[in-house]
Order: sequence, then C-alpha cells, then structure tokens
Amino acid sequence: MDFKLEIACLLEKVTGVPQQEIINTIEIPPNKDMGDFAYPCFRLAKQFRKAPPLIAQELYQKIEKPYFIEGIKVQNAYINFFVQKSTYVKEVLQKVLTQNKNYGNSNIGETKTIVIDYSSPNIAKPFHVGHLRSTVIGNALYHIFETLGYHCEGINHLGDWGTQFGKLIVAYQKWGSKEAVEQQGIQELMRIYVKFHDEAEKQPELEDEAREWFVKMQNGEQEALSLWKWFYDISIKEFNRVYDMLGVHFDAYTGESFYNDKMAAVVEELKEKNLLKQSEGAMIVDLENENMPPCLIIRKDGGTLYATRDITAALYRKKIYHFDKCIYLTALDQNLHFSQWFTVIKKMGYDWWKDLIHVPFGLVSLDSGKLSTRHGNVVLMEELLNQAISETQKIIEQKNPDLYNKEEVAKQVGIGAVIFNDLYNSRIKDVVFSWERMLNFDGETGPYVQYTHARACSILRRGECSLAENIDYSKLTDDASMEVIKLLEQFPQKIQEAADKLEPFIVTRHLINLSQAFNKFYHDNNILNSETPIKEARIALVIAVKTVLKKGLALLGIQSPEQM
Ligand code: ARG
Repeated sequence: MDFKLEIACLLEKVTGVPQQEIINTIEIPPNKDMGDFAYPCFRLAKQFRKAPPLIAQELYQKIEKPYFIEGIKVQNAYINFFVQKSTYVKEVLQKVLTQNKNYGNSNIGETKTIVIDYSSPNIAKPFHVGHLRSTVIGNALYHIFETLGYHCEGINHLGDWGTQFGKLIVAYQKWGSKEAVEQQGIQELMRIYVKFHDEAEKQPELEDEAREWFVKMQNGEQEALSLWKWFYDISIKEFNRVYDMLGVHFDAYTGESFYNDKMAAVVEELKEKNLLKQSEGAMIVDLENENMPPCLIIRKDGGTLYATRDITAALYRKKIYHFDKCIYLTALDQNLHFSQWFTVIKKMGYDWWKDLIHVPFGLVSLDSGKLSTRHGNVVLMEELLNQAISETQKIIEQKNPDLYNKEEVAKQVGIGAVIFNDLYNSRIKDVVFSWERMLNFDGETGPYVQYTHARACSILRRGECSLAENIDYSKLTDDASMEVIKLLEQFPQKIQEAADKLEPFIVTRHLINLSQAFNKFYHDNNILNSETPIKEARIALVIAVKTVLKKGLALLGIQSPEQM
C-alpha cells in the first residue's frame, strides 16, 4: 500500500483537487507528534475563498477515516494523518520479504539506455588512485541505473592513442629492453617515458622522431602498431588485475584508438557544417560566442586530439546505442574539456547534446604519508588495495582469529572499505585516505555496514530462524523498530534519488542510517529469547534488514560476508 497515494485519494474526494497535485503538496512532518503525513491547505484559499485553517477544519469533518489511518488531527492550516502503525509495518515488511533481493527495483528506466563512460585509465601509465574514483562511482551508478530498469552500457574509454605512444616507441628503442618490460610492465614503461622527457629537453629532435612514429601508427604501419599493441596488452593485463579485485566489469573497452579510422568522417562533417577554422596552422572550432577557448580538432602537425576522439566517440555511441543519456566520470579539472566539445556537438546541430553529461568528482588526498609512495607521487591502485587487505587482516587477527575463510573476508572487507570511503560524500568533495578512519568497524564505514549485515546473519544462524507464516506485526510498533521500518520503506526512494542526482552517496548514507537504527533495535530488544509472536516478528525484521543491507552494498559494488 502506498499511504501517500491513499491519503491523496481521500483528499481528492473532499477537495476536488487532482490526485497528483495533492501528492506533490503532501509533506512528511519533521516530528512524529505531527503525524506521518501532513496536508497544508494554504493553496486552497483561492478556491474555497476562506482562511486556510477554516478550510482544514471543514475538510477534516468531511473525511471518512479508513482502516489504515489511526487518527487525523487539524493543526492550524494543516491536516495531519497518523497511519496505523501495525498496518504500516505489515505493508513495509511484507513488501521487502516478498520482493527479497528485488526490493528497490523498478521499471522506470525500461526502454531507456544509459551509456556510462568510466575508469578510462591511460595505457602505459599507472592505474593510480585518481582513477579509482571514476571506476568506483561509475560502477555504483551502473548498478543503480540497472536496478531501476535502465539498460546500461559500461564503457572503458582507455587513453590508448595519441602522440605519447610515439614517444614511448622512441624511448623503448633507445633505452628499453624486452626483458625489462616483460618483467616490470607498466613501471618500466613509465621509467622510459619519463626518461624521454628528460632527454628531449636536451635533444628536441627526439620530439620529431616521436611524432614520426605516431604518424606511422596512424597510417597503420606494422612495426609501429605491433609495439603499440604490445604496450597495450601489458597495460590491460595490469588493469584487469585491479578490476578483478574491485569486482568491476565493462561492456566495452572501446578506447581512443578505436576511433582512429572514424575521425576523418567527423572532421569532414565539421568542415561541411562550416565549423572548422584555421588558426596558427591548426584546425579549431571557435567558441568565442560561448565564452570558451576554442576546441582544438587538428594539430598543426596533422595529429588529432583528445577532444576529436571524444566528439567522434559520442557520435558513434549515439548511432550504436541510441542512448538516452551518456555520462562521463572524470575529475573536476576536465570540466572545460567537456563543456567545449559538448558545445561542438550542439553546434553540429544535434539536439541530443543535452543528453551528454559530465559527472565530475573531487580529488583524492592521502593521510600524511601513511600510504606507500615508492613510485614518486603516484599511489598505485593495486598496492593500495593490497594494503587495505593486509590492514584488514590484522584487524581480523585481533578481533576474530578463528574466523572461517579469513583471507576471503579480509579481501571483501578491505576493498569494501576503500569503495565505501570513496562513495561516502557527495562526489565533488575530496576524498581523504586514512586507514584508521576507513577501517573503523564502529565508524560510518563500509566495515560497519558489513558488520551489521553479518550481525543480522549471525542472529538468524544462532536461532536457526526462518520466516514464520502468520506474523503479528503489531509487535513491531515500538520506537526502535519503527525507526528501522521507516528506513526500510525509504530505501527504494533513495535509490531513485541517487540516480536522479547521480550521487551514490545517497545510498551510502542511507545504509549507515539503517545500520545505526538496526543496532539500536538490537541493543534495545531481545530477539531470540522473547516470546514466540514477538520473536517471530523481530526475526522478520532482521531478515528484512539483512536483505536491504546486502542489496544496498551490492549497488555500491561491495560484498556482504555472512561472518566477519
Ligand atoms: N583517459 C582520461 C584520463 O585519464 C579519462 C577519459 C574519460 N573519458 C572520456 N571520454 N574523455 O584523464
């Protein structure tokens, strides 16, 4: 039962105002004494030509109280409705228990496609913590949209094309060796790439050599391409190890190189539409009347750019996926880049430019040198995740050394902690890494939510409980239980809100609230040793909480161990 809707029906009968309008006007009062729902009568003053408090009184007289309403009170211009607690409890719990892991799902996105461009690290460069945010937020949004019925296409737009690969080839031929690259992978590629830059300062002609190699790549010359492909394979192997640890998958790895043979047509289209201008030997789209610097499309030396590939990719994705929205997860510092090329799409006359959405996020900062930074200033993802796991192992050794499956649980909790920490605040806020805070089992953390889930599992295991047939829901009307029920009821709305705002933290925070309410309930109430009807009702609540915590964590990309 949707109480809001039912109350709107009652009010429609006595006011004549359309249901939807009433639904939009109904408020949830800030405290319980004012009821569960409130209808303000201010807007009716015109229609009834009376003072709002008087209208409220008159309407109140006319309303026939249905069974699910315990009481109706008028307070000033408000009509306050108190729903019957046991009916409310029953409605919520039955819904969670019957829908089970589908609770919170919806079909609102049916027939709609969302393309999510996330993670997108650069080949031959380390996968550092900055890419973590894109990966984790993108993955959460993917699950959130999917649960709302959208068809999602997760795309890893790898940075695998551009002049930097010409530099890498030169560097490899001058200072690299096959063995070293095979043994040390990206680290070695990084080393020779950095060396290239140092050397090029002394010998600028190296830059020309690099450009020549990139031109060879663009022209499909064998030697250049096979070196490039080798660097690519080595990088992907390392990236995939990280994705496996994070439990992240992509529907396509169509990176920048994928658009190599598709850009010429787009450049042609830009020319035909009179959007290309010569500027100091380069080709640009002028954006002066949009108050932006020009969007560079072709370099002086004929090379294409990051923006050229993004424009081409957007046109390709629209054609292939017919997306309703295409969202891009990158740090805030790419704001201008996206605004520029989105505008180019607009100037090309595509009205779907409005469906291209940049979803920016803040930076990652490190808690004073506690993370190992052996590789200069970059913190490698794999190292970070391994460190999270080993820190968690230490905690488990202290708290629960006999735990079955320790290694696996340490992985789930350690990595879960990193993901949860990343999704804890609104995206735009910077993320700080502090092991102490992230791994605090009593803080507002991933481990805390996982621990609460494991606690629910443990209650059910200890009591060998299953769901009873006829539950007396009136046994769950105390304050602590009601608080839990209310949060369970709000869960589907929170998923929707997270999708609307593209903010996974709305789910994260809700899971914290639910965990806190459940732990209070657990603290206040005896579960397994209470009388049968009470025990049965409380067990039902425990099962529902376990279900929703597990589902919520899964939406964020986090596992839920049953014991920890
Ligand atoms: N490779 C880029 C970087 O590491 C991110 C790519 C984001 N996606 C895109 N379509 N531009 O900064």
